[in-house]
Amino acid sequence: MKKSANIVWHEHNIGKSERCTLKGHKPAILWFTGLSGSGKSTIAGAVEERLFEAGIHTYLLDGDNIRMGLNRDLGFSAQERVENIRRIGEVSRLFVDAGLMVLTAFISPFRSDREMVRGMVEDGEFIEIFIDTPIEVCESRDPKGLYKRARSGEIAEFTGISSPYEAPQRPEIHIDTLRLSKEEAAEAIVAYLKKRGYIENV
Ligand code: ADX
Repeated sequence: MKKSANIVWHEHNIGKSERCTLKGHKPAILWFTGLSGSGKSTIAGAVEERLFEAGIHTYLLDGDNIRMGLNRDLGFSAQERVENIRRIGEVSRLFVDAGLMVLTAFISPFRSDREMVRGMVEDGEFIEIFIDTPIEVCESRDPKGLYKRARSGEIAEFTGISSPYEAPQRPEIHIDTLRLSKEEAAEAIVAYLKKRGYIENV
């Protein structure tokens, strides 16, 4: 909700295009979405390492970490998840304005929220990456033991169990983790960025 009136956006002389020229690559948000335990953070981390080695300036925003700081006042109700994603979107937009390649790893279960973030940046600056791992696989991995606790009713509104996950219908990149290893997935994402001219020489 907007609470402040009488404020005017200030245009500064150093803008996004000046910062991008300095960096030598285009900025974008690589928006990873998928169930808890699907591999979002792992694959985002592998992509970031490749980009970093190639001299691309990156920043990785990770679900659990952001929920320990910026969003520590938010829980997992539908309303709080919307606010979680809205704040991440605004932060990502600032990083894009700074000229960085931003990687985000949040379940972001609602299609409308992901579209909201897409609408915050310019065309081509939001790249939706669906980390497609069946719930049975996520549940059998259960790296944090959360699915077990959700099944027993100890955790309410758990995505995929008692809260919905709306899979992307037309993501820019679709990663089927049953077919691709972590390295292959990272390679496919970097290849997309090269092909579309976001980065060169990686
Ligand atoms: S989102 O739905 O708002 O996008 P986010 O990615 O920030 O979720 O946080 C998800 C992480 O929080 C999960 O990987 C898991 O570790 C933890 N978590 C704790 N409670 C829940 C819950 N009820 N549903 C989903 N994830 C939860």
